[in-house]
Amino acid sequence: MSDRIALYPGSFDPVTRGHLDILDRASLIFDRVVIGVLQNPAKSPLFTTEERVDLIRRSIDGNAHVDLGTFDGLTVDYAQSVGAIAIVRGLRVTSDFENEFQMTLMNRRLNPDVHTVFLMTSFSNVFISSSIVKEVFRLGGTIDDAVPPACAEALRRKFGRDR
Ligand code: PNS
Repeated sequence: MSDRIALYPGSFDPVTRGHLDILDRASLIFDRVVIGVLQNPAKSPLFTTEERVDLIRRSIDGNAHVDLGTFDGLTVDYAQSVGAIAIVRGLRVTSDFENEFQMTLMNRRLNPDVHTVFLMTSFSNVFISSSIVKEVFRLGGTIDDAVPPACAEALRRKFGRDR
């Protein structure tokens, strides 16, 4: 039987402990998970695509079930190109639902063969998002419990802070 592959797409600007939580859960279910980093200049990311990929690579600890790639264009097209049968997305709070629901139905319309699977993060990660991490850090707060160490270090470097 061929490997059951899932695509975990996102901006990952930057990767958080919430993302890693979803990734761990997805790796238990699928034979392989491909993390797809969206190269989306329209969203004016804080980290370049290369930086985001590097931070993920350094945070996944050589997990043999995980591959890392970048894409632009449609997620369903990238999913098909890597042989994924499913797109994995994390759900934290009900406010995520509306947007995810819309994306899922559109993706299904674009390619009915690619299913979307939602995984729920653990309670401790419910309030973590890349946007909140960036905002809190920018305003002087600490974010070490919300992101992997490589990412906390990269944020310090980016903002010229020592803690
Ligand atoms: O981490 P994010 O920013 O929540 O991820 C959003 C992402 C990358 C999954 C979404 O923006 C996306 O799929 N973009 C690619 C373009 C696309 O396929 N759009 C149609 C989906 S409705």
